[in-house]
Amino acid sequence: MIVNIFPTPVYEEHLELDNTALIQSLNSVPQVRYNSNNSPTTTARSILEFEEFSELKKQIVSHSKKFIFDELGFCPLELYVTSSWYNIHHKDDFSQPHQHPNSFYSGVYYLEIPEGDSGTFYFMKFHNTVCSESFAPDIMIPSPTTSQKVNFHTPPGTLLIFPSHVWHGVTPNNTNGRRVTIAFNLHVRGLVSGLNTKYLELR
Ligand SMILES: [Fe+2]
Repeated sequence: MIVNIFPTPVYEEHLELDNTALIQSLNSVPQVRYNSNNSPTTTARSILEFEEFSELKKQIVSHSKKFIFDELGFCPLELYVTSSWYNIHHKDDFSQPHQHPNSFYSGVYYLEIPEGDSGTFYFMKFHNTVCSESFAPDIMIPSPTTSQKVNFHTPPGTLLIFPSHVWHGVTPNNTNGRRVTIAFNLHVRGLVSGLNTKYLELR
């Protein structure tokens, strides 16, 4: 018997929202390509504060609380969205492996996903847990235990929430269609810990 230790939790849910209405505001916010030049994003960093996104924001916060406090068991704190933005992937655009700094948990909501190979969202780890980095024989039988990469199927309406330090990315969009998602970061306020050596209160 193999017992897998130290699993990484990812919350996955499907939301029933009218994505067509939500995507309208994309046309009214400026877009920019940063130095990595892999895909455009929006300069606005508070998309979920737009009136038309109030229901989506409400559901994101509700599911995040369920995940973080009810299921993972963190002490109850005030959870809030620190930033939120559009990711737009045109043909050949992608997202390189990255983390979300200055954030507790992060997530992504899938608005518009074209038919075909429009890119795959994946989580990954750089460090192998089944052997050392300096001696890594080929693995002939792939399994979740030995894999360093996990792909997710993300049709429109998918909501993913995950710890912000977990590396993730999106493979290139090989279609002529537009792939649009909303990403967000979450943080907490309140008494993070009352223990002497790790005391912290955030306001
Ligand atoms: Fe991300």
